[in-house]
Amino acid sequence: MAADFHNPISRAIPPEEMAETLSKFRSSQERGKEEYAAMINTFYDLITDFYEYGWGQSFHFAPGVRGASFEEALAAHQYFLGEGIGLAPGMKVLDVGCGVGGPQRSLARKFGASIVGLNISAYQVEKCAAYNKEAGLENLCSVLHGDFMDIPAEEGSFDAVYHVEALAHAPDKTDAYAEIFRVLRPGAVFAGYDWCVTPEYDGENPAHREVMQRIEFGNALPGIASFADVTEGLRAAGFERIEARDRAPDADPQTPWYRSLEGNGLTLRGLPRTRLGRKITTAALRVLEGVRAVPTGSLAVQEVLNIAADSLVEAGRLGIFTPMYYHKARKPG
Ligand SMILES: C[S@@+](CC[C@H](N)C(=O)[O-])C[C@H]1O[C@@H](n2cnc3c(N)ncnc32)[C@H](O)[C@@H]1O
Repeated sequence: MAADFHNPISRAIPPEEMAETLSKFRSSQERGKEEYAAMINTFYDLITDFYEYGWGQSFHFAPGVRGASFEEALAAHQYFLGEGIGLAPGMKVLDVGCGVGGPQRSLARKFGASIVGLNISAYQVEKCAAYNKEAGLENLCSVLHGDFMDIPAEEGSFDAVYHVEALAHAPDKTDAYAEIFRVLRPGAVFAGYDWCVTPEYDGENPAHREVMQRIEFGNALPGIASFADVTEGLRAAGFERIEARDRAPDADPQTPWYRSLEGNGLTLRGLPRTRLGRKITTAALRVLEGVRAVPTGSLAVQEVLNIAADSLVEAGRLGIFTPMYYHKARKPG
């Protein structure tokens, strides 16, 4: 079905299949590690248009920057990664789990590198390719449909690999890192931002466990890693010279990464992201679903996103979770 690129209601799914897709999503979540591909595909079919409506084309968080808008803070977070990798014209780079390509286009424009996006979601691949074309960036940006657990590329074919909050979806971190290691040329760098529990997280504390379970449910995650899971996984996959640190404390104290979901510093563009905006969207969907103006299931999708947003804010306030554990490592050679 043709994509309607600017509609908040999911266009990936024919309306009559919405309820069935939701139920497939829910049953794949019960076996998140084994059925990760089904879980991710149904999840992103359901929520991609909602994300774009509330967030734009870059589906990630950023530490707030004093005096900067939400969009400027997102760009600064992307450039930090690009500079860390040393992106430059002439490099061939892989963006693992590229979404609809917001970071890819931003980094290609800023650094002039040639970037291949990789994404398991066919719907997002279609959108990403269309946006690359619309932006006039087809000379630098392309997109591949595939799984980062089995990357459709030759050994040693990239000068760098990065991910922006995508490996949170990996059913096994070390296996994902090993695939990335394989497609990097010797001496090349892999870097990214991952979703992790912080050392403040107490697995014996039922309240902590419950909020983390809601984050997993609302974001289609098979689990949430610790900092050590990331660094030890990288080492086990063969990487060396590993640097890693949480970027959340880099934020201006007035604008921690979860502020955009709370509702302070409201702008009209930012309203759908906030608690108030989500309440308005939920109320509107309830009415629209009642009169069959939107497919049955739209409200349930919005409710999944509300759980995601509220649990992320709660975990952010408690300091037990970060969506920006920065890691950088090199393939020996
Ligand atoms: C939170 S989004 C981030 C998207 C993008 N990096 C951005 O910042 O806009 C996670 C992305 O990872 C992709 N993804 C999840 N599991 C994947 C897999 N096994 N292989 C390839 N892509 C995957 C999803 O389809 C989604 O595009």
